[in-house]
Amino acid sequence: MGSDPDFAAKLRGNYDEAAPDYSVEQRWERYTPEEHALYRRLFERQSKLVPRYACPEWIEAIARLDAAREIPRFDLISQKLKSRTGWEIVAVPGLIPDEAFFTHLANRRFPVTVWLRKPEEFDYIVEPDVFHDFFGHVPLLFDPFYAEYLYEYGQGGLKAMRLDAVKMLARLYWYTIEFGLTHTPQGVRAYGAGLMSSGGELPYSVDDPRPRRRPFDLERIMRTEYRIDRYQDTYFVIASFEQLRRDTAPDFTALYGRIRNQPTFAADSP
Ligand SMILES: [Fe+2]
Repeated sequence: MGSDPDFAAKLRGNYDEAAPDYSVEQRWERYTPEEHALYRRLFERQSKLVPRYACPEWIEAIARLDAAREIPRFDLISQKLKSRTGWEIVAVPGLIPDEAFFTHLANRRFPVTVWLRKPEEFDYIVEPDVFHDFFGHVPLLFDPFYAEYLYEYGQGGLKAMRLDAVKMLARLYWYTIEFGLTHTPQGVRAYGAGLMSSGGELPYSVDDPRPRRRPFDLERIMRTEYRIDRYQDTYFVIASFEQLRRDTAPDFTALYGRIRNQPTFAADSP
């Protein structure tokens, strides 16, 4: 009711019953057996890739979630999360506007889309669904450094809105939260949700010789464009979540001012 009809018009979810903060009831009982079975197949496909391609923090967390059999109940997951890092999940109809999104993160609430893709979208889906949002994003909320980084990102997002800097900050989200890689004792591994929920790009990001893998560089990231319609040409590799949090802790106001009028790098720039 409280949500903006113009925002929702082009999106797939049902925003009619959303609260002003865009949250909805999950209504778990409405998922069909076919939807649970599709979720299970997605979970199984990705789980086969995880030991080779995911970072250890992610692997440890997914076991804790016990979410392989059916679409999880968000309230039960929230209970586990809250006692670990203070985070919880809120159900949303789909993508939500920046301000609502940042406000949820700044209050340690991660918005998870309620609907699941169709069987014919098994390999690729345009808008994030419950599988991407849950399998991709939720496990690392159990990691204390990652959880704090995401909380601070939400606070920073609200500030970036006031400073007209959301476009620069959104690139940081893209190249870390969605498509980030990290060094591990076993070599480079994935942690970004866009990678963890993708059957194709997860192996590509770690193994394929074509994309560039650059060391994490905050300024470079904020000046690097990205493509939403293909695998990434460039990934940024962090040393650890602790380093990610430390390197993004300073206030960005001066950085925004400095790079605002500088040219950007294309997604495939060398
Ligand atoms: Fe995502």
